[in-house]
Amino acid sequence: MPPIQSPDLPPAEEKARFVSAMFSRIAGRYDLMNAVMTLGRDRAWRRRVVELAAPPPAGRLLDMGAGTGGIALAARAQFPKLTVVAADFTAEMMAVGRRKPGGRQVDWCAADALALPFADAGFDAVVSGYLVRNVALPNRLFAEQFRVLKPGGRIVCLDTTPPRGPLAPLIRLHFKRIIPLMGQWVGGDRGAYTYLPESTRTFLAPEALAARLARAGFVQVRWRTFMFGTMALHVAAKPMACGRA
Ligand SMILES: C[S@@+](CC[C@H](N)C(=O)[O-])C[C@H]1O[C@@H](n2cnc3c(N)ncnc32)[C@H](O)[C@@H]1O
Repeated sequence: MPPIQSPDLPPAEEKARFVSAMFSRIAGRYDLMNAVMTLGRDRAWRRRVVELAAPPPAGRLLDMGAGTGGIALAARAQFPKLTVVAADFTAEMMAVGRRKPGGRQVDWCAADALALPFADAGFDAVVSGYLVRNVALPNRLFAEQFRVLKPGGRIVCLDTTPPRGPLAPLIRLHFKRIIPLMGQWVGGDRGAYTYLPESTRTFLAPEALAARLARAGFVQVRWRTFMFGTMALHVAAKPMACGRA
């Protein structure tokens, strides 16, 4: 699907509009499509994000780009006393999450990840699933996440990553041919699932993403890939003694 033609908008705002419109269209079938594409593994990955974030049990966690709340709800299930803020700029995605079991125990918040409406150093952990690839300005995203995180708090990012290695040609073929077809049949939107492989192909390699995190001020940056090298998990921390917060 071509980007929305908005000659008056700067590229970052144009991408934001395009992304939000796309997720509002696919919100109703988003979870089903994820389960099908990942063979049901995505729920375990979201739980892993929460484990890696390791918030204090009664602390505050921000799930940024929370969508239908997969990570936010997993966080509340793992830590019943945790305050979980699920923020996103697509109301239709959050509406699906709010209706899920446990959805009322999460604080849903309409927010742009590039200009967060939160005070400095208010969260013990900031997590995101499949958000970074969708923002036009990852540096600004990480700067905002750094700002709202408490010193010593962790950031965890789960996202797809450009395929490489011996299986890469096969995976690219799967991305190019099979995922859009699945998107059409299961997700009801071929365009959105043409964007997914295309945005993955052109996304930052894991070490480049790690470098962006370090440039934003995060320390102890580590990452690993899995699912035949198609997914990456990055974990980092905000330094304890931090002059930049
Ligand atoms: C692929 S979905 C991921 C949803 C959820 N985190 C998950 O793990 O399934 C990406 C979400 O990020 C949101 N998003 C993208 N760019 C955003 C931005 N700049 N500000 C807020 N939300 C954004 C979209 O609206 C969408 O709900």
